[in-house]
Amino acid sequence: MVGDELSGISRSDAQQMDAADPLARFRDDFVFADQETIYLDGNSLGRLHRDVPAAVSAVVTEQWGNQLIGSWGNWIEWSGALGDRLAASVLGARPGEVVVSDSTSVNFYKLAVAALDAAGPGRDVIVLDAEEFPTNRYIVQGLAQARGLRLRVVSSDLDEGLSTDDLGRVIDQDVALVVLSMVSYRCGAVQDMAAVNELAREAGTKVLWDLCHAAGAVPIDLTGTGAELAVGCTYKYLNAGPGAPAFLYVRKELQTALRQPIWGWFGQRDQFGMGADYDPVDDVGRFLVSTPPILAMAPLGPSLTSFEQAGPAALRAKSVAQCQLLLDLTREWLEPLGFRAAIPAEPGRRGGHVSLEHAEAWRICRALAEKAKVITDFRVPSRIRITPVPLYTRFTDVWDAADRLREVVESRQYEAFAAERSRVT
Ligand SMILES: Cc1ncc(COP(=O)(O)O)c(C=O)c1O
Repeated sequence: MVGDELSGISRSDAQQMDAADPLARFRDDFVFADQETIYLDGNSLGRLHRDVPAAVSAVVTEQWGNQLIGSWGNWIEWSGALGDRLAASVLGARPGEVVVSDSTSVNFYKLAVAALDAAGPGRDVIVLDAEEFPTNRYIVQGLAQARGLRLRVVSSDLDEGLSTDDLGRVIDQDVALVVLSMVSYRCGAVQDMAAVNELAREAGTKVLWDLCHAAGAVPIDLTGTGAELAVGCTYKYLNAGPGAPAFLYVRKELQTALRQPIWGWFGQRDQFGMGADYDPVDDVGRFLVSTPPILAMAPLGPSLTSFEQAGPAALRAKSVAQCQLLLDLTREWLEPLGFRAAIPAEPGRRGGHVSLEHAEAWRICRALAEKAKVITDFRVPSRIRITPVPLYTRFTDVWDAADRLREVVESRQYEAFAAERSRVT
């Protein structure tokens, strides 16, 4: 890798890194419709896995088209079966602790309510990061209003994320629930999951983890860190496609003690006994609600196969090396053009994406996509998120993207773009 001396990282340096990359073959698992476009936005929507069209087609043509209702005998197992694969390959959880269902927001609501209902008397505070992802903030605002709870909102640094020390100061005997992203959506700061879980355990409360920017991006050990509750999406690093259902995790020892608020028939014991009253199963299935979106679930399997083969340690090593290459090029080429790496100073606290701050970030992000065919995304107030997803990004892609970014800014091409943000950024 590149040393401290930044006397020029050449494209052939990046080519050598590609040649030595043990994960290089996984790129062939994905579809590249346009070879010129460099896609560095897998933190928002992962690429299409090449086995997805066949997997979806098998569901449509064979299972639905030919076998019709007979396929439900198989489909009904999918939430748990995919959950178990996710648990083993990505989440560091045990079988029977994860199901794939609903959306992240809905799962977040279900588990937040389950935890609040189980919190001891007198606990009326929900702790959250002021910079927590909006849907989580809104859901707890709604819960606080409906239940007369107090929100304890902890300020955090936009580049460094929430500090464990600051969190420790506010988790006390009044707290009913802590909600926290393992990896911050903006700066990519990684929380020390074990330390936070321990703080919560000492105070007799629970943490509901949001793993959207962590699952598939950084190694996760839900079992080893003592995590109790978590949710996350499958359409970012897990490549399951737009609107693919999310996952939820409930630690085995806790499952029967918790009840979620939507008493749907998919959580019911002897579901087709059509019993008069709700009587949920004694396992993670009690956190299911309703008929799963089978067509939208089909793409997750192929992507999980790639994760199972690549392994979290090798993926993390490549992600760290690619982010470091981007940071080295940022220092050399982009800082003189007004960019600043808006990420935690300590390398161990960085997740799978890099945020670059620039006063013209929005217009640069648009120009980069439209003039230079480099796809990233923009987040307020002034950051471009750049993600070299290790399953399918080459080191030369990182080098070329930084080079094109430099060119877009040096040539001031971004000045031709409107300053108003579009609906989706
Ligand atoms: C960190 C985080 N949490 C939650 C969500 C919400 O996910 P959904 O819209 O699928 O409920 C997102 C979506 O991007 C996210 O990034």
